[in-house]
Amino acid sequence: MAGELKIRVNGAERSVNADPDTPLLYVLMNDLELKGPRFGCGLAQCGSCSVLADGVEIRSCVTPAGSVAGKSIVTLEGLPALYAQQKGLAQAPALHPLQEAFVETQSLHCGYCYNGMTIKGAELLSQNPAPSEAQIRAHMDGHICRCGTYPRVMKAIQLASLKIAGGAK
Ligand code: FES
Ligand code: FES
Repeated sequence: MAGELKIRVNGAERSVNADPDTPLLYVLMNDLELKGPRFGCGLAQCGSCSVLADGVEIRSCVTPAGSVAGKSIVTLEGLPALYAQQKGLAQAPALHPLQEAFVETQSLHCGYCYNGMTIKGAELLSQNPAPSEAQIRAHMDGHICRCGTYPRVMKAIQLASLKIAGGAK
């Protein structure tokens, strides 16, 4: 039954009127009007709806909104602020280093997978700032790009890793 639901998204407490069983993705897209997470398969198979919950990637299309109470949700929009927090920067950069790297390497084609690739890649870089190619491959497994940009996504993550090593701000 619909009622007031409080969730913490991108550092702010948000309150919506929704059934706790509503997929988190619908709340993020429809109630909070966020443009990062996207509906792809709706079955936890593609990753286009991914967000971070306490730093861990979840598939928001199959996550009941009521189940994330008390957790900190970060969407694509919140990645620069999360990076600043992780690195102890006084100010959030305009883009997370991986977002910058995606732009600089022109990695994407249609861009539909961009949200999930960025969320999952950022999760990896926060756990392991200098991942090997094999580690990147293993971590990104399960994120589908229908345009087949996988080699370029690899390049972007590697560039972001170099940026982080160089003290990207
Ligand atoms: S839309 Fe959620 S995994 Fe595909
Ligand atoms: S760039 Fe089109 S789905 Fe990945």
